[in-house]
Amino acid sequence: MNTMRIGVVGLGTVGAGTVSILRNTEKELARRSGVNIKVTAASARDLKKPRDCELADIALFADALELVRDDNVDVVVELMGGEELAKDIVSLAIKLGKPVVTANKALIAVHGAQLLGQAAQAGVPIKFEAAVAGGIPIIKALREGLAANRIDLVAGIINGTGNFILTEMKEKGRSFPEVLAEAQALGYAEADPTFDIEGIDAAHKLTILASLAFGIPLQFDAVYTEGISQLKLDDLAYAKEFGYRIKHLGIAKRVGDGVELRVHPTLIPQKRLIAHVNGVMNAVLVKGDSVGNTLHYGAGAGALPTASAVVADLLDLAKESRLQNEQRQWTQSAWPLGFVNNEIDELPIKPASEFRSAYYLRIEVSDEVGVMSKLTTAFAEQNISLEGIKQKEPNLGEDGVSVILITKECVEHQINTVIDQLKAMPAVREDIMRIRVEYLN
Ligand code: NAP
Ligand code: HSE
Repeated sequence: MNTMRIGVVGLGTVGAGTVSILRNTEKELARRSGVNIKVTAASARDLKKPRDCELADIALFADALELVRDDNVDVVVELMGGEELAKDIVSLAIKLGKPVVTANKALIAVHGAQLLGQAAQAGVPIKFEAAVAGGIPIIKALREGLAANRIDLVAGIINGTGNFILTEMKEKGRSFPEVLAEAQALGYAEADPTFDIEGIDAAHKLTILASLAFGIPLQFDAVYTEGISQLKLDDLAYAKEFGYRIKHLGIAKRVGDGVELRVHPTLIPQKRLIAHVNGVMNAVLVKGDSVGNTLHYGAGAGALPTASAVVADLLDLAKESRLQNEQRQWTQSAWPLGFVNNEIDELPIKPASEFRSAYYLRIEVSDEVGVMSKLTTAFAEQNISLEGIKQKEPNLGEDGVSVILITKECVEHQINTVIDQLKAMPAVREDIMRIRVEYLN
């Protein structure tokens, strides 16, 4: 049986998980692929640090580029994170004809066009299932299982850390910083956790999903991005009173002749399955013209779930590889973005002012006569209908009240005009909280 020799760059959460799965399931993986998949080399910054995996018989490199050049490495697995060095590692691997597996969504979303182009030209595979939604095989689903469909919508909870924080806040009333610290200790968060809480990580993932779903270029800069750090416990509770849950969603939607790409907190009707996806779990709703709605669910972060996706890519590579006169050739059974030669469509990306959505607004006002009527008049003047409205009783000793409104669908510039008018009213006291509402039907 042939052996495929793996070099793992990064021995942190995902790297250690990957080495562990490859060691623990070695025989089964060989049985499934017909190839021995063996880790021969690994790289980390601190070679003395204890690791959550067995490193016997694995050559260790402090210099990751040296690992890539090592003759005992056939395939490079990049699990280090970051952009610049990771890009150099992947680019060097491709130049040397060594296939790459990576979990690095930032790398693919930002530098993917260049790297996938280089890989296609060189005929070297590059795989990144673990980059989106942890252990859920959503890339395979879009590229293969759902390939018969024109995809109209992808909407997902695609950041485990953010969903873990929102769930713990809502269910247990825990504070944001406390839950974030726990997510970091559990290995869910990015090296810079602002990527998780400000939606950057989800935007990286949405960039990849949208490219696969619609055949458009990877264009991270075009994704409208809002995080969860401004959300208050009160908003989670008020949304529930109206029959909704708040989730941090990545949404890629076909609309008319273009596409909306957006990441933001979203009210979802609580009767939808995705509204009940909690903790570190992720779920991605994909709507195809033939299949209808499909929902893909699983752990979105963590060592073994993510490593499960890395190892699945390695198995695919093992199956795609064949040895001829000591020269390994790679079959292109699956093009990285699911389109031959990454043939892409230039669908225009809609600006945020043209998004169509319903809206939840929380408005803090003075408790005085006539305020409600002034508020509702502002909506009527913009032709925006209201789905529901509630005034919360003031807390003891306070004279201000919260007014919660949910609108019917309108265009975003309309709601922005109303918000500007409301903010100019003397009775309106603070910034207005605006959260989009999606029905996902
Ligand atoms: P991590 O725990 O911080 O591990 C990063 C590893 O890379 C560490 O072992 C670190 O070495 C090593 N490293 C950093 N700089 C290096 C350098 N210059 N040369 C060699 N090694 C270097 O990160 P992680 O959570 O495993 O994430 C790795 C990648 O997977 C990231 O792209 C992340 O976005 C992605 N990902 C993570 C998850 C998850 O649940 N954690 C899920 C999906 C995707 P030291 O240990 O010596 O510092
Ligand atoms: N930090 C990421 C998350 C890791 O929490 O979803 C998985 O991509």
